[in-house]
Formats: sequence, C-alpha cells, structure tokens
Amino acid sequence: MSRFEVRKAVIPAAGLGTRFLPATKASPKEMLPLVDKPLIQYAVEEAVASGIEDIIIITGRGKRAIEDHFDRSVELEENLKGSGKAQLLSQIRHISTLANFCYVRQSEALGLGHAVLCAQRLIGDEPFAVILGDEIIDAPVPGLAQLIHAYKKRHGAVLGLQEVPHHDVSRYGIVASRTIAAGLHRVEGLIEKPAPAEAPSNLAVIGRYVLPPEIFPILRKTQPGKNGEIQLTDALRELAKKSPMYGLEIQGQRYDAGDKLGFLIATIEFALKNPSLGPDFGDYLQNRMRPSGERRTTRSRKA
Ligand code: G1P
Repeated sequence: MSRFEVRKAVIPAAGLGTRFLPATKASPKEMLPLVDKPLIQYAVEEAVASGIEDIIIITGRGKRAIEDHFDRSVELEENLKGSGKAQLLSQIRHISTLANFCYVRQSEALGLGHAVLCAQRLIGDEPFAVILGDEIIDAPVPGLAQLIHAYKKRHGAVLGLQEVPHHDVSRYGIVASRTIAAGLHRVEGLIEKPAPAEAPSNLAVIGRYVLPPEIFPILRKTQPGKNGEIQLTDALRELAKKSPMYGLEIQGQRYDAGDKLGFLIATIEFALKNPSLGPDFGDYLQNRMRPSGERRTTRSRKA
C-alpha cells in the first residue's frame, strides 16, 4: 500500500445540534432525514464512494441511534423477510455493510479540533479524511474523491473549498491563498469565522479535508479559539506553516443542511430528484406556487 492511500475517514457527530432544537433535544441531528435517508448516511456513502474503508464516527451522549443505524437490525430484517419486502430488506442490510465502523466517544463538546483528535489512536500514522455531515455535496465525482485525487498528486493536506457570498464569511473557516491551477490554491493561512472586514478572501472551507497524521501533535497543543472551542482551523494554520497545504474548489452542488433553510432547500432538491417522489412532488410545488385563486385543489394522499 502506498503511504498516500487514504483509507480512513473521521465523521464528527458529537455536536449538540442547537440550530435544530427542539427536534434535536433527544435525537441526534445527524439522523435528521433528507427525504428517506439520515444526513450521516450521505456522508458515509460519499466516503465509501471515494474509496474509504474505515469510518470513525465521533459520538457523544444521546447519539446511540447513529450506531444502531449502521448496525444489523435482526428483528426488522426478519419482519421484512416474512412480509416479502425483498427490495427494502436488501436496502436495509446494505447499510451495515457499507464500511467498517468504529465509534469514539467525545465526552465533552470541546470543538471540531478536539473531535478530530479523539480519532488519533484509530488513525495511527497515515493520512485520513474528515467529512462534516452538515454539508451535503451532490456531485458526479464525490466531493471527497476530488480531494483524494489532488492529495495523491500533491502529497500535502487538501481542504475542500467553495466561494461564498462575502456577507457569509463569518459562518466558515476562510483561507488566504494563491491560485496555482484552475480551482487549485496553495493555502497560506486560515481564519475561523472572520468578520467580513477581516476575511482574507471569500473562499470557505466546506467540511471536507484530507489531512496528514502530522496534524495530531499540533491539535494536541491547540488552545481554545473562536467561541472557546479547540478549532481545527487553528491547527491547520499551524500545519500550513510547516508543510504545503492546498485548497481545491469542489465541483458540485453544496447544501448546508446544518441550517434550517439549507436543510429545507436540500430536502426539496433531493425530493425532486427522487424517481418515485419527484414527479408528484414537482406537480404539487408548481401548483402551490400559483396565486391562491388559481390553484387546483389537491387531495391529501394516503401513504
Ligand atoms: C466548521 C469549521 C469551519 C468550516 C465549517 C464548514 O464550522 O469549523 O471552518 O468552514 O465547519 O461547514 P461549523 O459549521 O461546525 O461551526
């Protein structure tokens, strides 16, 4: 195996989900469904489609549903088998075979940097990916696969980037960089959630990273930063001083499903694309957008 093979991915999932309260009071935000699949399954599927074999999910209190989701569900499988629902049965079984899953508990929500550090022993001395499940990337070539491709060529950390409107920079880690090829940047600095006036650019880190193991000793020394949390961005800034770091503009449609509006937009787009729901849902939306006097009456349908 080449030492530039990326086989492991970390998916941080210990956050409190405060942006979705009260829905996330007792259920993990990672389990909110986009149409019929929980958000975290999209992240896992992107990782697997990018060649990842081992998935390390960083969990915390109240997140058991995530482990259950990626485990076998023997009673459910028996039931589906008994009632002849073969297609649903194979879909359900497939979930537990997607990858090798490992779970690490982060006992306190100390920040993204700390969550990644929790995976150190399981990662060991090899490069790895980080996927933030709030960001859904819909692309013909999976977002993470685009980064891994660049990593294999450049052999330095690669961050997934997209341009964001200038007034939105304070929601992201923002890079200072210089362009070295179409869509590829050499990262020279990073700042976590800057005020628009302090932002070095409008190129935002969008929740996909390929990192070398050298990030771990840096994370261990990183002090709490923005919002009192140990920030991955701060550790990356240190890493960029020591070794080359790249930013790749990911090609694809990105949805910030960690935000209520972004989540609704993603739901609508994925529902419209869904072969069994899309046509009826599209009709409904078109009718709904007409002025109220011109709408057809729609019957509520029984599932
Ligand atoms: C995190 C990172 C930030 C990044 C963002 C992408 O922030 O800290 O650098 O730009 O994810 O979604 P969060 O949204 O978790 O506050």
